[in-house]
Amino acid sequence: MYTKNEIINNIKNQINDVIILDETDSTNNYIKENINIIKPNTLVIAKKQSSGRGRRGRSFISPEGGLYLSILVDTNGNLNGSSYPTVATAVSVSHTLEECYGLSCDIKWVNDIYIKNRKLCGILCETTTIKNRIIIGIGINIITPKNGFANEIANIATSLSEHIEVFNLSEFVAKLYDGITAFAPEFDIKSIINEYRKKSCVIGKEIYVLKNDNFINARAVDITDSASLVVEYPDRTTETLFYGDISIKINK
Ligand code: BTN
Repeated sequence: MYTKNEIINNIKNQINDVIILDETDSTNNYIKENINIIKPNTLVIAKKQSSGRGRRGRSFISPEGGLYLSILVDTNGNLNGSSYPTVATAVSVSHTLEECYGLSCDIKWVNDIYIKNRKLCGILCETTTIKNRIIIGIGINIITPKNGFANEIANIATSLSEHIEVFNLSEFVAKLYDGITAFAPEFDIKSIINEYRKKSCVIGKEIYVLKNDNFINARAVDITDSASLVVEYPDRTTETLFYGDISIKINK
């Protein structure tokens, strides 16, 4: 599906190394464990993860047939745990899907990419023990067949191969890398926040907001310039969520 040489030859931005692993627990973990020897602008890809991780300590089931990658990048230090790298990555994934395959996707605040109401990709950005150096982790279902997903995600997941014929991913990976690293080190989202908003499959929808382990009814009203989600509760009060977890109500 991809080779190290093809990926490197297609990348235009600065790249230090591309590490391809047959299997690891999590590509984000792999970078964390080797943080003292892996240089920034390194791309780590695994064909399979035994303990892939999602946001909020959830697992990200990662069988063979998916693309699991992490990029180590430097930031300029003004991010303070903001969602900007996640937002920039979501928009980069969307651009790359459009550019390489003519596919239009939706972004579910804050870190998921959907195609036709099913999740194709999740993003997990994490800090490291090195100041201002972060890991951008992306998991994309590529050729997992419908019956290849674990039961708990079978009804909400989709693979790229359900939408296009997948041959070689090297160019896709290279374009994704270039798109994301073009935002570093500032991760200024000013130029893309309108697009992020436009691609949102959440604005105007009835949703549940996860709060202290309870799901609260709300309506997603808008996404601010700093990528926070404005929600309105049934009593008409509003709240601006900087981060968090929501789910969209079906058919509302
Ligand atoms: C989510 O759905 O909440 C985010 C999923 C992020 C998965 C990717 S796969 C590559 C990298 N390694 C991990 O363990 N997680 C991210």
